Amino acid sequence: MFITFEGPEGCGKSTHAKRLKAHLEGKGERVLLTCEPGGTQAGKEIRELLLKPESVLDETTEVYLFAADRSEHVSKVIRPALAEGKTVVCDRFLDSTLAYQVGGRGLPEDLVRYLNMISSKGLIPDLTFLLDVTPETGLRRAAEKGGADRFEREALEFHRRVREYYRRLARDNQARIAVIDTEDKTIEAVQDLIREKLSEKFGD
Ligand code: TYD
Repeated sequence: MFITFEGPEGCGKSTHAKRLKAHLEGKGERVLLTCEPGGTQAGKEIRELLLKPESVLDETTEVYLFAADRSEHVSKVIRPALAEGKTVVCDRFLDSTLAYQVGGRGLPEDLVRYLNMISSKGLIPDLTFLLDVTPETGLRRAAEKGGADRFEREALEFHRRVREYYRRLARDNQARIAVIDTEDKTIEAVQDLIREKLSEKFGD
């Protein structure tokens, strides 16, 4: 099983990915929790380059770096774990590149879809949780953590486009993407909805 978490800044993906891992392990599953960018040794350096505020990157360079990170990640971490029978829970994957680099940056969708296909080697998640939140709430939550990265420093308008693109992806991929509204829900309420969706999809 390959499960991904997606969403705009401050949507709570990382918290819920961790909780879901614990929940699945409690049921006896072997789970690998990983993230993009930065799920491999080379990926950690790529992540640093992508996120540090002083990086000045052309948007094409940026999308190639995300693709390079994913390529390493899929071949060295995700595929091997799936082959060993583990469930993989990944914090951000293909949909992030569409939402941020097409929706946010305005790169052509066909270019990004092509790069996604190459970098993921055709791997598509079985289930994706899109944790939805307005940019106003999400950026406030992210700011509470402090130390805004290169993406968190983008204008509100950028984050609005990212969110809208995510919602469009969800409308176009209803069988794979489950949208969960996190705007004014507690962590427990959101986690309950995630578990409900999971058993609806895969049984108990
Ligand atoms: P992440 O580590 O999830 O940070 P956060 O928890 O603050 O959301 O993601 C890092 C940033 O990288 C995030 O702002 C989204 C961005 N990103 C892209 O623009 N494209 C991509 O393909 C991926 C994977 C992430």
